[in-house]
Amino acid sequence: MKVILICGARPNFVKVSPVLRAIRRFNQEQSNLFQPVLVHTGQHYDYEMSQLFFNDLELPQPDIYLGIGSGSHAEQTGKIMIAVEKVLLEQKPDLVTVVGDVNSTLAAALAAVKLHIPLAHIEAGLRSYRLAMAEEVNRRLTDHISHYLFTTSRYDDENLRREGIAKSRIFRVGNIMVDSLLFYKPRAEESSILSRLKLKEKCYALVTLHRPENVDNRQRLSQIGRALRRIASEVPLVFPVHPRTRNSIISLGLADLFEHDAIKRTAPLGYLDLLNLEMNSRFVITDSGGIQVETTVLGIPCLTVLDSPVWTITHRQGTNILVGSDGVRLVQLAFRILDGRSRKGKCPELWDGRTAERILGALSKKPASD
Ligand code: UD1
Repeated sequence: MKVILICGARPNFVKVSPVLRAIRRFNQEQSNLFQPVLVHTGQHYDYEMSQLFFNDLELPQPDIYLGIGSGSHAEQTGKIMIAVEKVLLEQKPDLVTVVGDVNSTLAAALAAVKLHIPLAHIEAGLRSYRLAMAEEVNRRLTDHISHYLFTTSRYDDENLRREGIAKSRIFRVGNIMVDSLLFYKPRAEESSILSRLKLKEKCYALVTLHRPENVDNRQRLSQIGRALRRIASEVPLVFPVHPRTRNSIISLGLADLFEHDAIKRTAPLGYLDLLNLEMNSRFVITDSGGIQVETTVLGIPCLTVLDSPVWTITHRQGTNILVGSDGVRLVQLAFRILDGRSRKGKCPELWDGRTAERILGALSKKPASD
């Protein structure tokens, strides 16, 4: 079975790595069933956003690199569709696998399904019910054209069933990001990032922000920035800055707001360094989906600066609190954690490091149906 695995943006690399590792193991231990072809669209291209992740996650260099780069949504999605279609016509795969919810995910999914190639979506069924988020559009459309929908929890299954998706297409396999997290945790523990940033365990909080709704809006970004300054007066913050956020802080004229002795800004960090910072932090403030998942598994308190939940289970069972963009509430919740009143959570079912194995089990058994 020739399987094209599509990746393009930073969070995708964390999700394809365990699948490739499981394929290698399956082929060695069971039968030589899967022939993987790794395609990188080039949606992310900076060293820190791409190659550093390939290094940390021990990903082989992509078999095919499309070099698409940045652009408007239509431009980026359209260019990826055109380039992926060419690859699919040449490679003639038996299956295309896409992960997550970025523009590369939807573009490759559309190219595949229009060529009648069976499509698998890993991390299907997540919903924010806000079409203003590009990821929500990408998720919904990809789910509705996929033959195999691999979900992370019963909430995802329920979302899909409500939208009329047949039960026979839904496979609850757990969370692929947790496969990477558990596999690389021992190596992340060895990272020297704390000493490089002159930080001590549990004496700082970690901040990451990159969602357009937070960082492209001056009023919202200033509100968050003011709250961070207030929190930084009690606990030092480490803030690895995403390129979108770096550009926005400058273009919106907010550089002074983020200039603070106790707000340590860094370039985007690699997977192992960031995991280490998460594990050793007092708490995390974020709008990243992956970090909401990782903090729940690690048991680290997480404050999510978004208006609607995507990772519902991390709020219901995990350590994650949805804050919205209200700066006062963000400060109150951060201080509550500093007072020792943080939310205790538990790790969701099937978030156990064996999701890739279950995906291959399903693919090796059941032929795709419409
Ligand atoms: C994308 C995903 C988002 C994901 C995020 C993780 C979409 C719609 N969004 O958002 O779901 O959470 O990746 O990081 O697919 N840039 C660089 N260097 C790079 C990549 C981007 O400088 O290597 C800058 C460019 O100015 C670019 C901007 O960041 O225009 C945004 O990049 P883009 O890929 O469009 O979206 P992200 O905000 O990274």
